[in-house]
Amino acid sequence: MTLAAISFVLLKTVVISVKKCKDFESSGQWYVTTENNGKQETTIFDAVMVCSGHHTDPYYPLESYPGIKQFKGKYFHSREYKNSDDYKGKRVVIVGMGNSAADIAVELSRTASQVFLSTRRGAWVISRVFDHGYPWDICFDTRFETFKRNSLLPMSIVSSLTEKKMNEWFCHANFGLQPVDRTQFKEPLLNDELPSRITCGFVLIKPPVSDFTETGVKFNDGSIEENIDVVIFATGYSFYFPFLDESVIKMEKNTVVLYKHIIPPTLEKPTLGIIGLIQPLGPIMPTSEMQARWLTRVFKGLCPFPPLTVVMDDIRKKHNSFTKRFGTTRENRLQVDFVEYVDELASDIGAKPNIFSMFLSDPLLAMALFFGPCTPTHFRLVGPGKWSPAREMILTTWDRIIKPTKTRVVNKGESTLSFVTKVLGALCVLAVIVAMFMYKY
Ligand SMILES: Cc1cc2nc3c(=O)[nH]c(=O)nc-3n(C[C@H](O)[C@H](O)[C@H](O)COP(=O)(O)OP(=O)(O)OC[C@H]3O[C@@H](n4cnc5c(N)ncnc54)[C@H](O)[C@@H]3O)c2cc1C
Ligand SMILES: NC(=O)c1ccc[n+]([C@@H]2O[C@H](COP(=O)([O-])OP(=O)(O)OC[C@H]3O[C@@H](n4cnc5c(N)ncnc54)[C@H](OP(=O)(O)O)[C@@H]3O)[C@@H](O)[C@H]2O)c1
Repeated sequence: MTLAAISFVLLKTVVISVKKCKDFESSGQWYVTTENNGKQETTIFDAVMVCSGHHTDPYYPLESYPGIKQFKGKYFHSREYKNSDDYKGKRVVIVGMGNSAADIAVELSRTASQVFLSTRRGAWVISRVFDHGYPWDICFDTRFETFKRNSLLPMSIVSSLTEKKMNEWFCHANFGLQPVDRTQFKEPLLNDELPSRITCGFVLIKPPVSDFTETGVKFNDGSIEENIDVVIFATGYSFYFPFLDESVIKMEKNTVVLYKHIIPPTLEKPTLGIIGLIQPLGPIMPTSEMQARWLTRVFKGLCPFPPLTVVMDDIRKKHNSFTKRFGTTRENRLQVDFVEYVDELASDIGAKPNIFSMFLSDPLLAMALFFGPCTPTHFRLVGPGKWSPAREMILTTWDRIIKPTKTRVVNKGESTLSFVTKVLGALCVLAVIVAMFMYKY
């Protein structure tokens, strides 16, 4: 952050309320009340971006667990977990199968005498060292892969290809990890060590907890683990906007209705938006960056905000499509497809390159945009925030990603372009052209 920007930051200051000004229908302005050191202050702002996160309020469903009050061991939410120091020789049950549960299980498995990891739905576990050693999102979040998954292939084929890919590293069924619903996408667990800790017996995968005794935990397959010292509920988070009135944002079952996952649809003026209330199948930072670029342009009137009927229609259609793809569970309600989502926002603000016409003028770049990882630089080639080094950056993406690990220079040997590679290359080019027609690039 630059020095100039820091001067606008109010540290140790809590936003108490954000309310529409009396003349909101014409001005679109907001009264923002903040508190610092017990002193409250109200200021008028032309627009508000809410960036309060959605991983700060623990979801702690104790009421679902009979007997928990009688349980004599320690129990707490994963948010309170700090390190493994106090767990030497302990028998620990972890409830949940998100990334928090997996990380804590692996860490505790080095000090605790036994870790039990209880899951209702299971999960795909993938390695940080994905195809050819690249990170998984770099391989997964390309336009080609997105097009293949969402437009080209039927859902049943996508599901079986995904399943096959996920089981290449190890068989999830043999490890008790296989997701219950394999047709729906759920955020994968990025964990290199979990399978090996299971193999060594330090982590045991268990079905859902049914109830607690004074000293033990019962599971819904009838098994009981006795002498449990600690239970950690790694059951995720809820989100709230205590500073916003219900008339601005209405929460229902940990869900809110937002246009493009950003703006409450019924505002008379689109001058307030939420940034980061989203769970992309890919990186959150570039997603939030694109949301911020989109929202500031809506605030400035440079990106037209459609009438309410269009807005509600868009929300309905997206809701139906997301429900089919990601399901309706609590954790998946904010899920979106990374490339589709950032492309859509970039299109709205004129920052999405036209890959089809670029294929004719700059085929190398077009190929990188279609087959390569979708990075924020893709949205710096044209439109607002255009940046001249962007082309070079995009063409060198793969090399720059792997550079930190190439600390010893080795001769990989000459690669010979085989006939098969050439044929595959030609087929890919053909696929690009067809895809661009179908996907309207
Ligand atoms: C254990 C854990 C590990 C994670 N690891 C990763 C990871 O490896 N990679 C990844 O991409 N994501 C990870 N995440 C998700 C991560 O939380 C988000 O990617 C990231 O923090 C989102 O940033 P944000 O700025 O939107 O929200 P946050 O980082 O949550 O920031 C929101 C800020 O708003 C402040 N705030 C809230 N209400 C008010 C108010 N009324 N007044 C003033 N300030 C307020 C909060 O204090 C907080 O500082 C992890 C989450 C958890 C819980
Ligand atoms: N290393 C990392 O990158 C890292 C580490 C930690 C967190 N994070 C991120 O931070 C975010 C939060 O992660 P998280 O793991 O804390 O939460 P999460 O992803 O929401 O997972 C919570 C898990 O709790 C279980 N659960 C929910 N309600 C339950 C209930 N009523 N009873 C029993 N189990 C219940 C579910 O597991 P079941 O499937 O078994 O139902 C669910 O998968 C995620 O985006 C995550 O990727 C990242």
